[in-house]
Amino acid sequence: MESFKPLCVATWNFPNASQKAGKMLDQGASALDAVEQGVMVEEADIRNTTVGRGGAPDREGNVTLDACIMDPSGNAGAVVYLKNNTHAVSVARKVMEETPHVILAGEGADQFARQQGFEKEELLTEASEKAYQEWLKKKEYKPIINIENHDTIGMLCIDQKGDIAGACTSSGLSYKMNGRVGDSPIIGSGLFLDNEVGGAVATGMGEAILKSVGSFLIVELMRQGRSPQEACEAAVMRIIKQNPNYKDFQAAFIAMNKKGEIGSYCIQKGFSYMEYRAGENRNFASKYYF
Ligand code: GLY
Repeated sequence: MESFKPLCVATWNFPNASQKAGKMLDQGASALDAVEQGVMVEEADIRNTTVGRGGAPDREGNVTLDACIMDPSGNAGAVVYLKNNTHAVSVARKVMEETPHVILAGEGADQFARQQGFEKEELLTEASEKAYQEWLKKKEYKPIINIENHDTIGMLCIDQKGDIAGACTSSGLSYKMNGRVGDSPIIGSGLFLDNEVGGAVATGMGEAILKSVGSFLIVELMRQGRSPQEACEAAVMRIIKQNPNYKDFQAAFIAMNKKGEIGSYCIQKGFSYMEYRAGENRNFASKYYF
């Protein structure tokens, strides 16, 4: 049997997450277990204000999480507007494995999490509450490029069997409207993969990524023969064409094909990604449009 060299790629400079997943892959873990455990590192880090516990709340003070996961067979699970659990990705995995559905939202997702044994947690930390109280003084909704849209960990792993899995998890845009859901939990937008082709994940302004179904587009372009880099560039160019205000926000993709080739592209300078390969865990600056 052909032996594959495991590989992990992830959005932004989150070295602990890619290190966790990469080491697991080196030790023979499945791509699915590695992506789940990898992104959980960021979900648990309360210093990260855009993922998991410690994520910035919406305008009403609710911290609401969005996440999805896909396995090599193309199965998918997602949660949106999850309020009381740090590890949204694990609840999403349970949706994939234990229900006939793909997405559970809000109260239903919460109820399902309790049924699956996830204990209720408070996601608003002292620091995020303090920042929210500060925000309330002016109530300005102007996401800061690469900071407040520095919002998602998306991860793709390929294991020793050559199987690909992916996950994407986020608290969404800081001070979003109550009820807002971004691209991160939406299969085809925040994440898509086909085990015969490769996978893609997105980060940045969810509304633009949703409208372009960017991750699905990238995988389909790779299927047609484009390299991961060419496919990411085409997806970003599609967003630029659709959004005359593209200079006002960030949108970024990373992609990986079945051969372990990587691509990355974004609108604005400042996006980077992690790559764990052969025991080395490195951060690379992405190419960008302007
Ligand atoms: N990309 C994450 C979000 O917009 O919610």
